Parts: sequence; C-alpha cells; structure tokens
Amino acid sequence: MQRYEILIRLFLSRAKVIYEQIPTFALAKLDIMSNAKEIEKRRTFGIISHPDAGKTTLTEKLLLFGGAIQTAGAVKNNKIKKTATSDFMEIEKQRGISVATSVMAFHYNDKQINILDTPGHKDFAEDTFRTLTAVDSVILVVDVANGVEAQTERLMEVCRMRNTPVIIFVNKLDRDGKESFDLLDELESKLNIKVCPLTWPIGMGDRFKGVYNIYNESLNVFSPNKTGISDDIQSFSDLESVELDEIIGEEAASELREEVEMIHGVYDAFDRDTYLSGEVAPVFFGSAVNNFGVQELLNTFCDISPSPRGRDTDLRTVEPMDKKFSGFVFKIHANLDPKHRDRIAFLRVVSGTFQRNTFYNHVRLEKKLKFPNPTSFMAQDKSVIDEAFPGDVVGLYDSGNFKIGDTLSEGERFMFKGIPSFSPEIFMELENLDPMKSKQLDKGIRQLMDEGVAQLFIQQPGSRKIVGTVGQLQFEVINYRLEHEYGAKCRFAPKNYFKACWVTTENDEQLQAFKRAKANYIATDKDDNLVFLAETPFLLTMAEQDYPDLVFHKTSEFKVGE
Ligand code: G4P
Repeated sequence: MQRYEILIRLFLSRAKVIYEQIPTFALAKLDIMSNAKEIEKRRTFGIISHPDAGKTTLTEKLLLFGGAIQTAGAVKNNKIKKTATSDFMEIEKQRGISVATSVMAFHYNDKQINILDTPGHKDFAEDTFRTLTAVDSVILVVDVANGVEAQTERLMEVCRMRNTPVIIFVNKLDRDGKESFDLLDELESKLNIKVCPLTWPIGMGDRFKGVYNIYNESLNVFSPNKTGISDDIQSFSDLESVELDEIIGEEAASELREEVEMIHGVYDAFDRDTYLSGEVAPVFFGSAVNNFGVQELLNTFCDISPSPRGRDTDLRTVEPMDKKFSGFVFKIHANLDPKHRDRIAFLRVVSGTFQRNTFYNHVRLEKKLKFPNPTSFMAQDKSVIDEAFPGDVVGLYDSGNFKIGDTLSEGERFMFKGIPSFSPEIFMELENLDPMKSKQLDKGIRQLMDEGVAQLFIQQPGSRKIVGTVGQLQFEVINYRLEHEYGAKCRFAPKNYFKACWVTTENDEQLQAFKRAKANYIATDKDDNLVFLAETPFLLTMAEQDYPDLVFHKTSEFKVGE
C-alpha cells in the first residue's frame, strides 16, 4: 500500500513538472517564431554613389513610395553642400540635422526597410566605408552619362571585400548618355563584378520612352513626374505583340525586341544566389528625379535582397537567429553644442532582441550598461523604442563609453570583426599651441578619434601625434572642435606620407631590422599596432622587396581584402 502511494506521488510530481514546463516551451517557441518573422521582414541597406549621380534623389523617391514622406524635397534640404569644401560651418549645421536622416526606416508592402545614409562628400568617405559594415546589401547609383566614376570604384571595392550584394541603378535616362550595352561592359570591367540587366531602357534623352522589366515582363511607359508616383505599368509577357508597336512606336519596338534577344544571348538569366554571394549585380535603368523606374527597383529589391545576415566575431559567426542579443557600434555622432556633450552611438543589432532598460555587456570595457532612451529612426522622426531586432539600427545616448567598432552583448565576450581602418590619404602632425591646455588637447583628440573623425598615429621619440584623414575638411573639423568643445588650440604641419600600412610578420629578426632602418617612418595606431608611414609608392615597394617576410596591409583588418 505504501509503495503504491509513493509511486502515485512520484507520478503526480513528475506530471506537475512537465505540466509547468509546457507553457515555457511553447512561449520560447513562439518567441523564436516571432523573431524569425521580424528578421525575415527586414531589409537593411545603403545607397552609394559618386557625388551628383542621384543618391539623394533616389533615397527621397524610395521614401515617397514607402509613404515616409509626402512631398519631394524633404530629404534634399538636409543634404550636405557638396561644393563648399571649406564652408565648415555649413557642414556643421547640416550635421545636426543629418542625425535624423542617418537612418531612414519605413514599411513597404510587408517589409521593414532600413536605409542607412552615407555621406556624399568625398572627405567623409571613411564614414561611408564604416556604414557599409552595418548594411546587408547596397544599391549603387550610376549616372548614365558619366558611367563609373572615381568614388564609385572605391566604394565598390569595399563592397567586394565583404561580398555585399549590390544592385546597380543607372540614373538620368531622361538625358543622353552612354549606350546601354557599352555601359554594362564598363560596369563589369571597372567594378570587377558580373552584371545582369533586370530592366532595359527604351531609348534615352529626348527619345526615352520607358523601361521594359525583363524580370517580370512588364512595360513602364515614361511620363515625367517630379512629385508624385507613377503607376502606369502594363504587364507585357509577349514582346512580339503588335500592341507594343502601338504604344512605343514601330521603330522603338523592334529595337527593344532585338536588344532583349541580345540580352538573353549575352547575359546569364538572373540567379538570386549569385546576387546574394556578391558575384553578380542586377542592373536597373531609370530616372530618379522623374520617379521613373524607381518602383520596379523597389519591388524587385524587396523580392530579392537579403534579410539580415550574420556577422563574424573573433570567436564565431553570430547569426541573427541566435537567441542572445548582440550588436556593434558603427557610427558615433557628436552633439556639437558644447553645453551638451552627449553623443549618439549608432548600434546595428546582429542577433537576439535588444531591449530598453536592460543591462548589456560592453565587451571592450567589461562594463554593464543599460539604455533608458534607445532611439529608432522612422524617416525623419526619432522615437524611443522598447525593443529592436536584427537588422535594426538603434541610437544610444552616450557620454563617452563608446568607440567605433565596440560590441554589446548579453554576456558573451566576443568582438565583432569587420570595422577596419583604411589607410588615410592626408597626414599632418598635430602641434599644441597652448601648453597649458595639453590635457584638454589629449582628451579632445582621443574622443574625436573614437568618433572616427580621423586616425591618430603616435611616433617616437616624443609621442608625436600624426593625424591621418581621407580629406582636407577633417582638419578644419578637428581644429574647430578642439577649440570650441575642449578649449584647446592646435596647428597642423603637413607630412609628406603617401600611405599608412599595417605591418605584420612572424620573422622577428627581420622586423627589428626594419624598425631600426625605418625608425623615422614607424608609428603605432590606436590599438598599438605597428604602422609604416611610406612616403611614396616606390619606397613601399622597396620595403616590400627588402623585407620579404613582412606583410604590409592596406587596412587594419588583416584577414579581409588582403
Ligand atoms: P547625390 O546625392 O548623388 O549627390 O545626387 P543628387 O540626388 O543630389 O542629384 C544630383 C543632381 O542630379 C540634382 O540636380 C538632381 O536633381 C539631378 N538628378 C537626379 N536624378 C536625375 C534624373 O533622373 N535626371 C536628371 N536629369 N537629373 C537628375 P541639381 O541641379 O544638383 O539639384 P536640384 O537643383 O535639381 O535639386
């Protein structure tokens, strides 16, 4: 009798445990499912172009389609003036506004679109490179008349380094430009990527009649429209139909038929996998300012572009579906008002769910931090959010804890990789003009470097500070901000270096010999890595030849792109 009683009690207690666990399992499963749904919905990307190709105009039209803005012109007003290289105050004014336009999120169909803004000005190219580490894909805008321009090539190199999927939008078809097949050849050869046209222009300039959508076999007839949204798209599966001649004229129709046949002969059919692996770039044609070809671009983009992807850390690859939250800071925006020294750190969520007022691990500082007012950016409005999912960008108010590249996690101690420094192009030695303020100068310059305004190299003897930037404008920015925010005065003396190369080797003897011979050209970066400041391409080649066991890297992230 007693044995039965024990067995029954045992049975009941087991049943209770199982019963209590059911809801937990079910909830966890539901949680995972809803996370998967949120992740699948998101499209986080950047629009890049050589200045003036039409990046701002295209961004604005996408926002218009997404209903995020009602009239054209709203984004444009925030644009940094591209021509005034020395008009620093203007840029400062614009920077204040551009916090709001740094991320533009909106819903379109069933997708949540996150556009990360990249500065157009070439002096801020480094900023753009870093933003590209936080996107999952890119739309590259090319001007039909100018084709591939200098900055297009450089930006594309960065995309190719990390196999970022790229869609190309050939813009300004309402003007005369390069012949379409020639342009496709140029894109392939200069950008080092295969292309696959998904739409095709019918004429250009005055003879521009519209675009034919090869991807879903429809025809969009051109009518200039600078403010609204054109929806004059006709489905057209049979290009042989006489209706085509009636709509666009016999001559244009037969030209289109010929060209589409050629495209099928010359280019492989679109394959999403080769696009996702960064080997093939789908190409669209249109006219952003006329709102033309933009909807095809956006619809196809939603169909084919990747949802948030995983990121490598020094321990393992972190996938968006990983349960625990993690993310990294790719941009820091300073508040330029000296009375409010706070900054906004832009964090890209990589895995799990970011939650407001929850303690997270700042891996580099080994410090627990929580954020009472994390901000999201919907078009031009900022608002406080309670949670964010992989692919989202969250603005975190920061009083100096963050550096670009920092990782936040739910406890794990890994650092995200992939936020490299690139060699600067202009180098100057920083000279302190007020010895009484050297502490302020040190603090200021360190904080500006954390924000990624420029790179600092220290040279011995005397811990001389060499500041390296991509453009002249940054020196004006540093000078102004050191004085106005930190009360320090400085001057820059030009240094005649051509590149900074990070040096690694397993041959210590050769390294020591190199350091002795090149003592005047050796420096260390912010993480104490050894850097060679080469004065000319020739001297760099000589160093490579004379010290064959040393590796001279062009970026600070040695495993990528070398
Ligand atoms: P960006 O951000 O890449 O630097 O280029 P942005 O959009 O500012 O465009 C540069 C110029 O090209 C602008 O003219 C813009 O209106 C024009 N543009 C953009 N798309 C098209 C297009 O499809 N066709 C034609 N013909 N022009 C286009 P702007 O004179 O510099 O400025 P705005 O006075 O027109 O605003």
